[in-house]
Amino acid sequence: MTKRLFVKNYGCQMNVYDGRRMADVLAPLGYVSVAEPDDADLVILNTCHIREKAAEKVYSELGRLAHLKRRRRMLIAVGGCVAQAEGEEVLARAPVVDLVFGPQTYHRLPELIARAERARTVDTDFPADPKFDSLPGAAAPQGIAAYLTVQEGCDRFCAFCVVPYTRGAEYSRPVSDVIAEAGRMVAGGAREIMLLGQNVNAYHGAGPQGGEWRLARLIGALADIDGLQRIRYTTSHPADMDDALIAAHGEIDKLMPYLHLPVQSGSDRVLARMNRKYRAADYLRIIDKLRKARPDIALASDFIVGHPGETDADFADTLRLVAAARYAGAYSFKYSMRPGTPAAEMEDQVPEPVKVERLARLQDAIDAGQAAFNRATVGRVVPVLFDRAGRGAAQAAGRSPYLQAVHVDCATPADAARLHGRIAPVELVAAKQNSLAGRLAAVAAAPA
Ligand code: SAH
Ligand code: SF4
Ligand code: F3S
Repeated sequence: MTKRLFVKNYGCQMNVYDGRRMADVLAPLGYVSVAEPDDADLVILNTCHIREKAAEKVYSELGRLAHLKRRRRMLIAVGGCVAQAEGEEVLARAPVVDLVFGPQTYHRLPELIARAERARTVDTDFPADPKFDSLPGAAAPQGIAAYLTVQEGCDRFCAFCVVPYTRGAEYSRPVSDVIAEAGRMVAGGAREIMLLGQNVNAYHGAGPQGGEWRLARLIGALADIDGLQRIRYTTSHPADMDDALIAAHGEIDKLMPYLHLPVQSGSDRVLARMNRKYRAADYLRIIDKLRKARPDIALASDFIVGHPGETDADFADTLRLVAAARYAGAYSFKYSMRPGTPAAEMEDQVPEPVKVERLARLQDAIDAGQAAFNRATVGRVVPVLFDRAGRGAAQAAGRSPYLQAVHVDCATPADAARLHGRIAPVELVAAKQNSLAGRLAAVAAAPA
């Protein structure tokens, strides 16, 4: 009997990957994915705990679901990082919830659902055997630009961050598993694979002939897969950026010239309190090396403003680093106090209005840098992977090598449809804040 499954993902790309794998796990039970919760038999909220705002979203969504559940029989499950962090508390706060399960237990969903049908259930174990060993091969095609989790968890314990607690210790999937999964994705139509990990460049998976492979070697092996045209990876820690990985940016054509390398702060004092294990000058040296290896590489970052102890002078250091690093884009966040983390216990918390003001100033600097980067690419011809629908049927949309969103207006919907799934040379003609307009520079080549 067919049952309807609605999964809503919050948070990082790893949750998107997990959400798809949950659907794969449930497919043999007759579950098919639907786009709305309204007539679903099972709703899974795949949650994020990184900042308070993200975590609180879940409870407002549960409020809305409570109305639906009054009208029809449905099972409501909370998975992901809020589930891991709050466990039983979720049941106490939200009577509508039937099942709470952590990011490392979703391979047990069939059994958990059966239990939850009888009584409210919580499973937030960190099982000894990694879930990857029990997950089925992906059932549904994963799209043109696919996500592939190769590493999970984090051992770095930055003072502000919940990830080491919600995802657990670092784990790298064996090389042969990753290559097999990538092969299936490419056979299913993927042209680009984004390798994912909370700390992906700490990857050290078991090699097929014994020994451990680091990320550069894994990327080199993936580049040999015919039909796979682009490889990316995210998110990386600066201290795990080894020389082989930096060199790979100059050596492997399929590795795209874009890197998200979060620095968090430009102040050595704040970096030390964050337990980041590098200084601003170390970071700038790393990006220098990256630019030597691959001169056109586009760099992106994350920043936290108002970390405990951050002074005006520290914040000025951050603005200086932004200017020196010449980012193509970055995310910035106000520090959010997370229960159980060392930074939450620090005494010199920064007042909210100071955070608000710093965030606005940092965001302006980042936006200006992003606009300058996009403007500088106008006039260039770049290969665009058309991986998504554009606005309107006659528009095709995709990504440049630098992860810029690019859209092309075609003469007819059929022309736009023909581009879908292909890489075609596009002349960038106009830059907006978050995207670029382009026009086809030549007839699209058929995909390899
Ligand atoms: N592993 C990555 C980051 C994962 S979390 C790294 O080490 O860089 C994604 C981003 O959320 C972080 O880069 C950080 O900028 C932000 N973040 C994490 N914890 C936060 C907190 N308590 N308050 C505000 N932002 C936070
Ligand atoms: Fe969190 Fe990233 Fe630090 Fe790990 S390295 S604790 S995921 S910010
Ligand atoms: Fe959020 Fe968990 Fe990812 S806290 S950012 S969903 S690892």
